[in-house]
Amino acid sequence: MTDTDLARFLDVGTSIALEAGRLTLATYRQELQIDVKRTDVDLVTQTDLASEELIRQRLKQHFPDHAVLAEEGGASDNEGSSSALWIVDPLDGTTNFAHGHPFYCVSMALQIDGALVVGIIHAPVLGWTWTARLGGGAWRNKAPITVSKAPTLDVALCASGFPYDRRTSDDNNTAEWAAVIRHAQGVRRCGSAAIDLAFIADGTFDGYWEKRLKPWDLAAGALLVTEAGGRVTSIDGEDVPPWPEVIVATNGSFHERLMEVVRGG
Ligand code: IPD
Ligand code: CA
Ligand code: CA
Repeated sequence: MTDTDLARFLDVGTSIALEAGRLTLATYRQELQIDVKRTDVDLVTQTDLASEELIRQRLKQHFPDHAVLAEEGGASDNEGSSSALWIVDPLDGTTNFAHGHPFYCVSMALQIDGALVVGIIHAPVLGWTWTARLGGGAWRNKAPITVSKAPTLDVALCASGFPYDRRTSDDNNTAEWAAVIRHAQGVRRCGSAAIDLAFIADGTFDGYWEKRLKPWDLAAGALLVTEAGGRVTSIDGEDVPPWPEVIVATNGSFHERLMEVVRGG
């Protein structure tokens, strides 16, 4: 795979994410059809489905031999036979979107032979598009970005979220949240894992952890963070992918300390 190939995948992928973002804006803060999925706080709207349909169609037009794994429809038929896999969350932050909150995005990553090579996170209401290319760096609205310089957890602004089974499972991240908030400068719950990771990449947040996320929540953001100079691992410090039960992302300065505090929560 040459840099020219990767640049093309990134350009085409970004234009697809922008088109999907425009589609979401047509129903933003409008009357929506909202359904629940596995639990009654796990929502899906017609906009999630329409965004995914558009992204699948466009990827098929541009890259007919690439496979797709997307949240609402799962894996495409050629998933086992193609070395190139687009991992797509057509609308990350559905609860925000359903309430007219601007923190939502379209997230797309390309993985080739198991390695993340392209990451795109587009937040249409915020007007921000974060992109990354393996070995090429990371950008927000085409300007280069790097992770923050916060040296310790004491001065870090962290972010996290809570799993969709939080009403029924005690393993719902509230203990970990309570532990981290005693040590960090602040902890935020933005409602979009992909934006949380993009905010680590551009230096807004310094640390992040979350439990039981899916590949489409993490793939694009993980590449953004590492290309911006940060670190993304499991709670035990293992490389990703594969996607672990607990993900930890930081600017790299206090990664071990955040893992330790989350483990103790
Ligand atoms: C959710 C968001 C949220 C995270 C959830 C995710 P969705 O994705 O990323 O921040 O806490 O666990 O499932 O359902 O809005 O695509
Ligand atoms: Ca998601
Ligand atoms: Ca989603």
